[in-house]
Amino acid sequence: MVFAEIVKTTLLNCSLDDNDLVQYKDRVKNIHNALPHYHLTGWIESPLQNQEGLLASIERVASEIRACADVLVVVGVGGSFLGARAIQEALMPYFGLAKGGIEVVYVGLNMSGAYIKELLAYLDTKQVYVNVISKSGGTMEPALAFRVMRLYMEERYGEKVTERIIVTTDADKGILKGIADKAGYRQFVIPADVGGRYSVLTPVGLLPVAVAGVDIRALMDGARYAATELAEEDLGHNDAYKYAVMRHMLYEQGYTIELLASFEPGLNKFHEWWKQLFGESEGKEHKGLYPSTVNFSTDLHAIGQFIQEGSRVMFETLLHFHEIEGDLAVPFDARNEDGLNYLSTRTFNEINAISKQGTALAHAEGQVPVIQLELPKLDAYHLGYLIYFFMKACAMSACLLEVNPFDQPGVEAYKRKMLELLKEEKVISK
Ligand code: PA5
Repeated sequence: MVFAEIVKTTLLNCSLDDNDLVQYKDRVKNIHNALPHYHLTGWIESPLQNQEGLLASIERVASEIRACADVLVVVGVGGSFLGARAIQEALMPYFGLAKGGIEVVYVGLNMSGAYIKELLAYLDTKQVYVNVISKSGGTMEPALAFRVMRLYMEERYGEKVTERIIVTTDADKGILKGIADKAGYRQFVIPADVGGRYSVLTPVGLLPVAVAGVDIRALMDGARYAATELAEEDLGHNDAYKYAVMRHMLYEQGYTIELLASFEPGLNKFHEWWKQLFGESEGKEHKGLYPSTVNFSTDLHAIGQFIQEGSRVMFETLLHFHEIEGDLAVPFDARNEDGLNYLSTRTFNEINAISKQGTALAHAEGQVPVIQLELPKLDAYHLGYLIYFFMKACAMSACLLEVNPFDQPGVEAYKRKMLELLKEEKVISK
């Protein structure tokens, strides 16, 4: 079957070429065939399954929330919020709300007392719904925030609170599941075979973004197309695997930092999602590329100097969408006191695209290898595709490093230590 190419992957500024890539063909094929047998790989096939019932019920609840609330408060951390916030910020207007959407804010992603106190004060003049998201139900940050939000909602809404708290958690187990069952809160299920950072295309990501006004059907159509196209085992016809192999080869050459760079500020939170996906999946056994991100042209005035002339440890992955909705022509000004009339035949997006070309050329001179990922348009469909693309690439990439893409033993270590300290503190303060 021939597919239209959605992500075009190109390697620039380095000595590696397609012949080097081809050497990985058999290894990639073996990993491709082994992947579905790993624990927590339900996300590989799920976009291909019939999800009509689930999407319809998410849309129903989202439209109720939009009708009855001014704000949806999402409680979650890590994989339980980063994806939703990424999609929301990438697709929603920079200022104000999307047509038909309402404000979505996040809590439980930190332990700042100032943040949560300010949030409660902010909510006081607004109608509120809460969506608490935690697969384990036992993560400290969201559990603490939910304790606060639940009491706040009970105080404000009395018996009606049951309608206003929606729980997204495991189908069978965990503290949050127990709380939701006992209180009679409505629930969405995080599939048992999907881990946190691979869960954005489940109710974890879909409910919050539907409330914000994102077209979740278009998002899932893009993901479904990716799941079909990227099911190809042949490296030569699978750009997600090409990207995984390119970054692996660069890592083997001593480049230990990958800098994901894009030119649209709305992608900043998407960067955060990407960073967690790759960081938690690959950084194990003292191996892995350090995932870092920049937004150009803003960061060219901050970190551009280092990229151009600093330690030669990083390569750049340039993420470029050819079409961005919304643009402005540079106005003609008869005074021309700033000397910029020569640009008045162009739009801002055109200048932004040229700055991308200029950046790639400058960084070529600075001997920074570049992987370029190009997509036709920044919209729900292509973002759904890209999310799946990165998840598939990440799983392949971690397997090339010979680490498990789906666990996070290092994060557990932090949680254990914090709990030990909190319990010691309790003994001391008695
Ligand atoms: O990717 C992961 O598994 C983690 O980032 C989790 O999503 C994060 O720790 C939150 O876990 P939970 O949803 O169980 O509260």
